[in-house]
Order: sequence, then C-alpha cells, then structure tokens
Amino acid sequence: MGVIQIVKEADNEEFLRKKSREVSEITPRIITLLDDMIDTMRNANGCGLAAVQVGVLRRIVVIETEEGLFELINPVIIKKSGCQEGAEGCLSLPGKWGLTKRPSKVTVRAMDRNGDTFELTGEGLLAKAICHEVDHLDGILYTDKVIRMLGEDEI
Ligand code: NI
Repeated sequence: MGVIQIVKEADNEEFLRKKSREVSEITPRIITLLDDMIDTMRNANGCGLAAVQVGVLRRIVVIETEEGLFELINPVIIKKSGCQEGAEGCLSLPGKWGLTKRPSKVTVRAMDRNGDTFELTGEGLLAKAICHEVDHLDGILYTDKVIRMLGEDEI
C-alpha cells in the first residue's frame, strides 16, 4: 500500500482528459491499485479519487463520505433525480473551488473488489462525489460544468 502522486490539471491536463477503459478482470494489480487509491485519497484529505488521477486509465473510483468507504469498479449511473447547487473541488485542481449544479440523488451500479455487482444510492455529498468521479472516467472535469468559480472569500 502507498500514496501515489496525484496528476494535476496544471501539469498534465491532456492525461486527465483521456477516457478510462473498463476493468475486465479483478487482478492482484487492481486490488493493490484500490488500496493505493484509498491511501492517496485519505492522505490528500479528499472524499473521492478516480484511477486516472493516479495515472491509471481504468474505470475505478474510490469515495469516502460519512456514509462510509466505497470502491466502484466500472461504475455506471443508472438513476438521477433532484438538483443541488454547491461548492465543488478536485484533488487535481488544488486550491480551486467552483459552484456546480448536480443531481441531489444518484444510483450507481458497479463491481466490488470481489467481482460482485452492486448498486449504491447516494444523496447530498455522496451523490455529488459519485457524479464527479464518474465524470473523471470520461475525461470530464467539474470546471467543464461549473456555474462560476468561487473566490477565496466564498469558500
Ligand atoms: Ni476530481
């Protein structure tokens, strides 16, 4: 296990714009990647991280909120409802925050590290984090969807 350097938009936006590939098989390498992603997310005090942010173009996401720790492999959002507006940031764009509009409730279908499919429904921050991280897998950053960036005095 270990902390991996996070790819920053300022250093390598081109890489963050790439589309990640599906995971076809859970290998020991995928398990190690999941563990390292969790360490990296916690070390950076983040609530979500996509594999592309640690230099791996695989459809893998980790999220940690008050509801718990979630590992999502090949996540697909299957249901969205409501709307929430609020501040959003990203570990690849440190020190920046933007005002975004996201669904207030989201259901995602994904695979866990045992290869089993499950569904997760999240509201509030968890819904926002799911949308943000799944976007990363298609090379989308929150700044693409931002209503406006926030000044330091607004954070
Ligand atoms: Ni992000």
